[in-house]
Amino acid sequence: PQGDGRRRFEELLASESRVEPTDWMPAAYRKTLIRQISQHAHSEIIGMQPEGNWITRAPSLKRKAILMAKVQDEAGHGLYLYSAAQTLGIDREEMFDQLITGRAKYSSIFNYTTPTWADMGSIGWLVDGAAICNQVPLCRASYGPYGRAMVRICKEESFHQRQGFEILLALMNGTEEQRAMAQESVNRWYAPALMMFGPPDADSPNSQQSMAWNIKRFSNDELRQRFVDMLVPQAEILGVTLPDPAIRWNEERGHYDFGDLDWTEFSEVLAGRGPANAVRVSRRRTAHENGAWVREAARAYADKQATASAA
Ligand code: 3HC
Repeated sequence: PQGDGRRRFEELLASESRVEPTDWMPAAYRKTLIRQISQHAHSEIIGMQPEGNWITRAPSLKRKAILMAKVQDEAGHGLYLYSAAQTLGIDREEMFDQLITGRAKYSSIFNYTTPTWADMGSIGWLVDGAAICNQVPLCRASYGPYGRAMVRICKEESFHQRQGFEILLALMNGTEEQRAMAQESVNRWYAPALMMFGPPDADSPNSQQSMAWNIKRFSNDELRQRFVDMLVPQAEILGVTLPDPAIRWNEERGHYDFGDLDWTEFSEVLAGRGPANAVRVSRRRTAHENGAWVREAARAYADKQATASAA
C-alpha cells in the first residue's frame, strides 16, 4: 500500500540510497525527473549542432577528428539520458515530438551561434566546463538510472573540456588575429555559459523540491560561483580576459565576486527568441523526418524477426 511505499521512499532518500524504476515514488518526483532528464537529453542532441557546424571546416585533420569524436559523444549522452527518462514511463517518440514541435526546453546555451573556429574552444572550455560543474553532483542524484548515466557522461566531459581549453591555448599562442579571435569568442560565450546554471536561486521554482529529493545537490548560484572560481585562474593561464570588470577576489567570502547577468536575455532565449532557437529546432525536425525511413525499416525488420521466431 502507498503508506509503505512512501515510507520506503523516504528511507531510501534518508539513507542516500538510489530510487530505482520499480520502487514506489511520488508522482511529482517522477514528473520532475521526466522534466529534467528529457530536457537534459534534448540539450545533448541539440548541442551537436553548434559544433557540427565546424566539422567540415576544422583547420586540421586532427582538430576534425577530435571534434567528430566529441559530437558523437554528445549523441551518446543523449541516448543514455532518453533511455533513463523512459524508465519513468515516458515514450521516446513523445519526447522527440515535444522537441521537434518546440514544446520542450533544452539548455539555453545552444541557442547561440558559432561564427568562428575559436567558438569550438569556448564551447569546450566554457560550456563543457559549466556542464561538468553541473553534472558531477548529478552523479549522486537519488534516481538510479539518472545518477548512473551521469557517471558515464562525466568521464567523457573532462576530455571535452580539455580539448576546448587546448584549442584556445593554441590560438592564444598564435598570431595577433588568432589571439583576437579567441578573445572575441570568449567575450560572447562567458555570460551565456554562466546562465546555463539556471536563474538566481530566488527565481528558481524547482530548486527547493529538487534539493529535498536529492536530485539537485547544490543550488544554481552555488554551482555558478564554483564555476567562476574555477574559470578565473584558467583564464589567466590562457591569457584571455573574462568580459566581466566586476570579477575580483573577495577574501572574506573566499570566492570571486562577479557581475550581474542579463536575465532578460535569458528569458528571451527560453521564450524561443534567442539568436538560433528557430534554426536549432527546424534542423532537428528535418533530421528526424529524414531519419523516418530508417526507423520504419528497423521496425519492419524487427516485426519480421518476431513473426519468424514465433512461427
Ligand atoms: N536552459 C533552459 N532552461 C533552463 C535553464 C537553461 N540553462 N536553466 C533553467 N531552465 C528552466 C528550467 O528547466 C525551469 O523550467 P521548467 O520548470 O519548465 O523545466 C525554469 O527554467 C526554472 O529553473 P529552475 O532552476 O527552477 O529549474 P531546475 O531546478 O530544473 O534547474 C537546471 C535548472 C540547473 C538546468 C537543472 O534542470 C539541471 O541540472 N538539469 C540537468 C543538467 C542540464 O540540463 N545540463 C545541460 C547542460 S548542456 C549539456 O549537458 C551538454 C554538454 O555536454 C555540452
